[in-house]
Amino acid sequence: MSESTAKNASHLLAWYEAMGVDEAIGETPVDRFAAPAAPSSSESSAEERKRAPAASPDARVRPPKAARTSPPAASAAAPSLEEIETLADLEKAVAAFDGCALKRTAKNTCFARGNDKAKVMLIGEAPGRDEDLQGKPFVGRAGRLLDKMLATIGLDENAVYITNTIYWRPPGNRTPTAQEIGACMPFLTRQIELLEPQVIVLLGGAAAKSVLDTTDGIMRLRGKWKLYNAKGRDIPTLATLHPAYLLRTPDAKRLAWRDLLMLKARLEELAQ
Ligand code: URA
Repeated sequence: MSESTAKNASHLLAWYEAMGVDEAIGETPVDRFAAPAAPSSSESSAEERKRAPAASPDARVRPPKAARTSPPAASAAAPSLEEIETLADLEKAVAAFDGCALKRTAKNTCFARGNDKAKVMLIGEAPGRDEDLQGKPFVGRAGRLLDKMLATIGLDENAVYITNTIYWRPPGNRTPTAQEIGACMPFLTRQIELLEPQVIVLLGGAAAKSVLDTTDGIMRLRGKWKLYNAKGRDIPTLATLHPAYLLRTPDAKRLAWRDLLMLKARLEELAQ
């Protein structure tokens, strides 16, 4: 390899790393610079265009409405989610589910961590690199900050149940698409129903928009109690800033602190 080719390759690797492409996901190298193969017919490319997701920024995080209620297209032999009665069985159903393409590139399924009798449920966006390696939500840097934040109001892992809107890491930690969130949403809906938390905390815009089914941004949604209806039971739900955002924007911690105090006050009220 000439010196200039090696230099270009090294710049390219640095660029990939900066974009979050930090892991090999297959055994065989793929030449992404090779000319794409021509579509087999004009009909198939029209079909592909029809299937392509809408390009609005909102479409990236809000699952289609039907996805909240329709059962996932899992294998026909899988039990319907309504028939699943325990979180342990739901975890098995998620692990067996092949309807979310992210599972193919992820190393592990990240279902939940914490106590499955907890009164407080926290929902984040998506597993990152550490979570993918360990198969548990919020175990990396953002998770450590989250644990510290919870500790300031007297909550530890035994007092909370933590999950995400999706169960597999998006490559390079990109924002999950509406389709990916939509594919996992029926499981998350059942997870909420089975846990029966007293309160739900939504961490960041992706979780807040998809669970509250709104297009409003996190700055508008945070710090306000809303109701999430789980099978006729209204669960008070609070959106707050994502710990990963707080790591990048330490100034915003004062807003998150206000939200934590709201959560603490609500839990004290519920304990009376
Ligand atoms: N960010 C999330 O939203 N979830 C995780 O599990 C880790 C980081």
